[in-house]
Amino acid sequence: MGKPTYYLTTPIYYPSDNLHIGHAYTTVAADAMARYKRQRGYDVMFLTGSDEHGQKIQRVAAEKGVSPQEYVDEIVASFKSLWQTLHITNDDFLRTTEERHIKGVKKIFQELYDRGDIYKSEYEGWYCVPCETFWTDRQVGEDKACLDCGRPVELVKEESYFFRMSKYTDRWLKFVADNPDFIQPASRRNEMISFVKSGLEDLCVSRTTFDWGIKVPMDPKHVIYVWVDALSNYITALGYGSEDEEKYRHYWPADLHLMGKEIVRFHTIIWPMMLMALEIPLPKKVFGHGWLILESGKMSKSLGNVVDPLVLVDKYGVDAIRYYLLREIAFGADGHYSEEALVRRINADLANDLGNLLHRTLTMIEKYFAGVIPEPAAPGDHDQELMGVARDVAQEVVESMEKLEISTALAAIWKLVGRANKYIDETTPWILAREEADRPRLRTVLSNLAEALRIIGLLLVPYLPTAPEKIWQQLGLEGDVRAVPYREAETWGLLAAGIRVRRGEPIFPRIDMKEALQGGEKKVTEKTPGVGEKITIEEFGRLDLRVAQVLAAERVEKSKKLLKFQVDLGTEKRQVVAGIAQWENPQDLIGKKLVVVANLEPAKLMGIVSDGMILAASDDEGNLSLLTVDKDIANGAKIT
Ligand code: MSP
Repeated sequence: MGKPTYYLTTPIYYPSDNLHIGHAYTTVAADAMARYKRQRGYDVMFLTGSDEHGQKIQRVAAEKGVSPQEYVDEIVASFKSLWQTLHITNDDFLRTTEERHIKGVKKIFQELYDRGDIYKSEYEGWYCVPCETFWTDRQVGEDKACLDCGRPVELVKEESYFFRMSKYTDRWLKFVADNPDFIQPASRRNEMISFVKSGLEDLCVSRTTFDWGIKVPMDPKHVIYVWVDALSNYITALGYGSEDEEKYRHYWPADLHLMGKEIVRFHTIIWPMMLMALEIPLPKKVFGHGWLILESGKMSKSLGNVVDPLVLVDKYGVDAIRYYLLREIAFGADGHYSEEALVRRINADLANDLGNLLHRTLTMIEKYFAGVIPEPAAPGDHDQELMGVARDVAQEVVESMEKLEISTALAAIWKLVGRANKYIDETTPWILAREEADRPRLRTVLSNLAEALRIIGLLLVPYLPTAPEKIWQQLGLEGDVRAVPYREAETWGLLAAGIRVRRGEPIFPRIDMKEALQGGEKKVTEKTPGVGEKITIEEFGRLDLRVAQVLAAERVEKSKKLLKFQVDLGTEKRQVVAGIAQWENPQDLIGKKLVVVANLEPAKLMGIVSDGMILAASDDEGNLSLLTVDKDIANGAKIT
């Protein structure tokens, strides 16, 4: 009998200039799960990758003056290096621009067409470019805003292929009722059930207005809708649709698709319905975790509040960042990111509790037993308790991880860390060391502590990529700690006496909170240069500044600061919100030609979408003056 298989996936990531700590959250969590399953003896297949097609990529690449392929190649290289920095142990990385994927997707599309589940018709509806999502008239309502991100949607009308999704409604509802664990957590499951019950329409699965995508096999002027392209990666990566489907037969169905909550809908409705149509078994579980949020809202580039994981790893180390992400937030719920909380965790849990336990234990073994782990004598007070906690914790970790309660698993491990520290205080080895008669007891105590540390080191393997190795080495143990099976963490007493420990530097030095945060939160979250710092011409070139004529302007209700504008950018009309109500009378601005940043990601201000930013000058006396052009020039003229 071979090992049982475990196939888990993260979403494939959109190429965007820099991935923030929120992106890293999905991958770090998936990595912890993959490592845990390997430790439990599974044959793990852990897949991640990049989602490289679509209108947005095509637009951005054109703005940058490069081909879409050149644009994605560069960004994907930076993804791969970020995952290395975070010690992500993915077994494969799928790019949707790879031949193996393109071939597979074409085959899937053809198959659905041949089965009569894809048909040609005409599409008229609303499209959100950034989300690559279609919405119906009813869904976008009066506001004509995307249901997911709130940004303005575009009306599109074109000949399209459709997937008969509505046909699978009943089968889907039955499947979800029969498999209560399929969508997790339960709250997301209920949300999806109501969504499906409210009525599904057939899904538009091709586009003709851009061409950066996989061509529809029987009609190449169409490209395949990006979500059909993207979701298929979970099977094309295994060779589905190729000459060699061995991996597909070995690993599919996936045990877990892991992702943030905003894309659960695609994974639990569109994807399973596609699989039903293809008569392919459904994945066993889809889990949508919460978002990492900053004081100023969900981390996003448009809000300028992204936290760069590379900067954090550089400052605090990879173990600390991973520990914080996995421990601080109950997996599934939203969580607030703050650097202060991160430093607090490092100091309390890692430096104090864990680091000190190792350091104190090894120092005493050196001092009282010349650095050699002693042979235990007869058990005494508190020993059973310590062993009992170790046993329970090893079991609790399994129970928690099987439910994807990663932070509960870490909390359990820290129960053992805490119990071992308390054991030192209760048994007072430094007092035992004074009397020759207490020698046997001292041997038992230090042997038990070393044993507890062996177990802690093993239990930490899935979460911290470097500390378990250090604990292992300092305990004088040989071999790769990651190759040790989990059952050795469940068994007390495997540490042999007579091993020479190798105490090193504390594995987690304390961080000075004040020093770390001195301008630190800023340093980590902002990348804007300070006064006097220079930027390159390329950096300046990334700004798309344009002349915009004000068509309409009005005050935003209940806001003292905000004005809402409709502006004409030549090729398009936009809504922009600006905090200038104290200085400007909206009526006076109609017809004026102002300067806007046209390529700023849209943001919501008091619930109103602002798609761009109006530029103004302000001085220390509190005066404000809007930027205009000094001669008449076409709307949309570029400022260079
Ligand atoms: N390309 C699609 C997925 C296609 S899968 C067939 C996509 N990509 S993404 O780059 O936008 O997101 C990748 C992952 O990062 C998702 O799991 C998403 O939820 C996660 N996160 C992005 N920002 C996040 C936070 N602020 N907090 C937590 N996770 C977030 O969606």
